[in-house]
Amino acid sequence: MSIRAGVVGLRMGKNHALALARLADVELVALCDIDRATADALADEIGRTAGRRPDVYTDYDRMLDDAKPDLVTIATPNRFHAAMTIAAAHSGAKAICCEKPIAVDLTEAREMVAVCAERGVRLVVNHQRRLGRDFVWMRDAIASGAIGDVYLIRGTCAGDMLSDGTHLIDSALFVAGDVDWKWTFAAHHRDDYESAATAAAAAAGSDAKSGGGFDKLGGWRFGHPVEDGMFAVVELENGVRVELLTGDLRVPGRPYHDIEVIGTRGSIWRAGDKEEQNLFIRSADGSWKPPARGADADAEPTADKIAASYALLARLLAEDRPDSDHPLGTPFAMRGFELLIGVYESARIGEIVRRPVVQERYPLAVELGLDR
Ligand SMILES: NC(=O)c1ccc[n+]([C@@H]2O[C@H](COP(=O)([O-])OP(=O)(O)OC[C@H]3O[C@@H](n4cnc5c(N)ncnc54)[C@H](O)[C@@H]3O)[C@@H](O)[C@H]2O)c1
Repeated sequence: MSIRAGVVGLRMGKNHALALARLADVELVALCDIDRATADALADEIGRTAGRRPDVYTDYDRMLDDAKPDLVTIATPNRFHAAMTIAAAHSGAKAICCEKPIAVDLTEAREMVAVCAERGVRLVVNHQRRLGRDFVWMRDAIASGAIGDVYLIRGTCAGDMLSDGTHLIDSALFVAGDVDWKWTFAAHHRDDYESAATAAAAAAGSDAKSGGGFDKLGGWRFGHPVEDGMFAVVELENGVRVELLTGDLRVPGRPYHDIEVIGTRGSIWRAGDKEEQNLFIRSADGSWKPPARGADADAEPTADKIAASYALLARLLAEDRPDSDHPLGTPFAMRGFELLIGVYESARIGEIVRRPVVQERYPLAVELGLDR
């Protein structure tokens, strides 16, 4: 039986909609965005290419009520993820794909997971790199001892730790074999936006609290405050160290999502997200070379990884299996998200934070006196 799908938030969500529209066992029935022109343009494009034009909504609750999708994709700014996921679970959806980060704080994330678990809804969080052939190759090569014993993983990317560092954390945990983490120590810096740009923009009557892309508007992105730059050190249960540098503290010249894994007999470097050769291995002679591997291990487009994720999700539904059987399922997402909040909490208190993280709120908002 075909799965009825609906997507809300159609900028990043366009990738999801296009991936869903090409799957044989999925019928993309609804698109929702508060910007009707965006939704209409995408619906027209899908109508032309896939043969069925999805219905367009500008109100999410209305989409859930009218279209009754079995599968709901949430690709709105981060601050909407929790409420929209919980509403979808209550509406009778059987599966939800929520964009990363799962939420803005631990209270929300834990509620999302609990509500979905109670109602038998499979929830996956879109850290799609886990499904990339290059990352799978990297993890398998590391596990097979290609670079000896791994002792250090370094990641660097643009953007803030919550919205972009979440991918680095997820990738580091993935290539390390999804082990738990022990402790983290972090620091960040942030301009005093509250008394400058945001106040001025608010006075001018504009909504300075939502930004798109990497742009911060008055120190806010995706509906929550963000820092300008951050670093974090993490120790994993297996003794591996992870070092993360984001925003304006990222390593100069390195592209988005650059990750290097260093072992006793060599290193593996994934030098960015380009859909081309971006994987290099350094062995005893010190030179970086593309690894000897099949052509099928090159990076593929984001939409292919997202399509692969939906194909797996459809299989879970058909076989009545839990989301823990999906590589983007909640056990993986929650391990990384607890670490992410631990990183912000360490930066807030200036001390090492260990598992379990007791700070339930978004620590940066707490620090700024903005938490509700
Ligand atoms: N997995 C990835 O690689 C990846 C990449 C980019 C963004 N993202 C995530 O996707 C999400 C969206 O990011 P973006 O860059 O598209 O954000 P964006 O702010 O550029 O776009 C958000 C879209 O959602 C719409 N929207 C906002 N509020 C809405 C509401 N209440 N109801 C319906 N539509 C609403 C906006 O009109 C806009 O079209 C974020 O959570 C982000 O972290 C993930």
